[in-house]
Amino acid sequence: MTLDKFRDELGFLSKAGEIADRIRSIIDKGFSFMIICHNDADGLAAGAICSTMLLRENARFTTRAVRGPDEALKNLRELPERCVPILVDMGSGYLAEVSEAVKDRQAIILDHHEPMGQASENILQLNPHLYGINGAEEISGAGVVYLVAKALNEENVKLSPIAVVGALGDLQDRGDGRRLHGLNELIVKDAVENDLLRIEEDLLLYGRSYKPLHVALASTMNPFIVGISGNEANAYSLLTEIGIKIKEDDRWRVLAELSEEEKKQLYNGILKHLASLGLPPSIARELIGCVYELVREEPWTYLRDAREFASLLNACGKTGNEWLGLAIGMGSRGDLLEEAQRVLEEYRRRMAEAIEYAMREENRQELKNLIVIDGGNVIDDRLVSSVASMLSSMNVQGEDKILLALAQSEDSIKISARSPRRLVDRGLNLGKLLARAAQLVGGRGGGHDIAAGANIPKTRKALFLLELDRIIEEELPRLKS
Ligand code: C5P
Ligand code: C5P
Ligand code: ZN
Repeated sequence: MTLDKFRDELGFLSKAGEIADRIRSIIDKGFSFMIICHNDADGLAAGAICSTMLLRENARFTTRAVRGPDEALKNLRELPERCVPILVDMGSGYLAEVSEAVKDRQAIILDHHEPMGQASENILQLNPHLYGINGAEEISGAGVVYLVAKALNEENVKLSPIAVVGALGDLQDRGDGRRLHGLNELIVKDAVENDLLRIEEDLLLYGRSYKPLHVALASTMNPFIVGISGNEANAYSLLTEIGIKIKEDDRWRVLAELSEEEKKQLYNGILKHLASLGLPPSIARELIGCVYELVREEPWTYLRDAREFASLLNACGKTGNEWLGLAIGMGSRGDLLEEAQRVLEEYRRRMAEAIEYAMREENRQELKNLIVIDGGNVIDDRLVSSVASMLSSMNVQGEDKILLALAQSEDSIKISARSPRRLVDRGLNLGKLLARAAQLVGGRGGGHDIAAGANIPKTRKALFLLELDRIIEEELPRLKS
């Protein structure tokens, strides 16, 4: 990759350096920091990188993982004296509100969401979109923080694998063969050159070199294989049906020791399974590609495969165990890792149930431009984002419709929306549309071109769906053909 491939990549990198200098001077003046991060995989990876960066400089800080903008703004309004907030993997989507909440204090935003509104002068913002770099695909929140951390102290190059985990958590592996691309390539390069990461092409089952085949198959969540992901017994039956030997004498076989012929057989068997459920073969493309292996992690842990590491962070964030995800991201292992692995196991089972519910016809509603999956009170509102991502990875929405997954939280309805690639390539920006529709019903929305979300008042669901459907209908003729 050449640097001049981007419009102003150098400008972006030098801004990262400028922000690192500012952080150093804030530390020197004796201020403390409050890191506020999103509670998904990329958010926790970003929070962990930022925390490790400050720890290395002996700075004083606290870290809070939050569910969304409202909680972030509340923390900003209640900041202690002489404390500088650093918003990571969030903040750019609602600049006016952040400005209002921090008043004339200094604040730092390290984000990859498309900036909306104007930031006041006391806010320092590093965001790829301001340099013509697509934050939805080319760099994640964790990647943005990583570049600042590296500019602050070269030692932080050791955190590059966590930035890779963040990017995979945000599903940025959209290059050919599920490769990370854009600025993410710079980060991957840091990790590979420092012997922290190895990349290979293979079937993308989690734990391909150490998990028994059926366990690897059942552990795989990206792509999500309905009926198999989260269900070892079904995975075992599928392998037996396909006719793949699961044991060699008394020893479980692993994916890495399968012959090319057997891998093809396995791949075709999964395809057949998907077809039997009426799912399109396009998901198969998602099953082959680059494996990102963190070579310094013990081979038998869930951290060895960067995609599974991301699933683990996500599971921690979405089950009230944010602190555990942050600790693992910052390097804790031992008992904490065992606990996090248990959290992931439980999360897999709950996700399998949620997906099974979401796939039932009676829970699905179709509007002109929307496929709506209503999780009501059954799907935990903290799981709805992952449900949407997984259904979308199964192409449930087809080529022309937007997928929405809904669930009720205590005081509002949480909505996660995903667009087919084809509409994004034609210029659709889901984040902007969700922001508009949510605002019309007194809610708040935003996000990326391909993945966005909203929170709306409980009584406004029907109106919101109609408005969003109408807004998309208006937008379609404006898209490139
Ligand atoms: O807030 P943040 O940017 O971290 O969240 C992006 C979300 O969008 C993640 O949950 C990620 O899984 C999802 N996503 C998706 N499909 C894509 C890109 C991102 O579901 N193609
Ligand atoms: O929650 P979910 O992963 O579906 O969100 C997709 C994207 O939309 C994320 O990048 C998230 O930060 C953003 N979002 C937002 N405002 C909301 C809900 C989600 O900007 N109210
Ligand atoms: Zn992110």
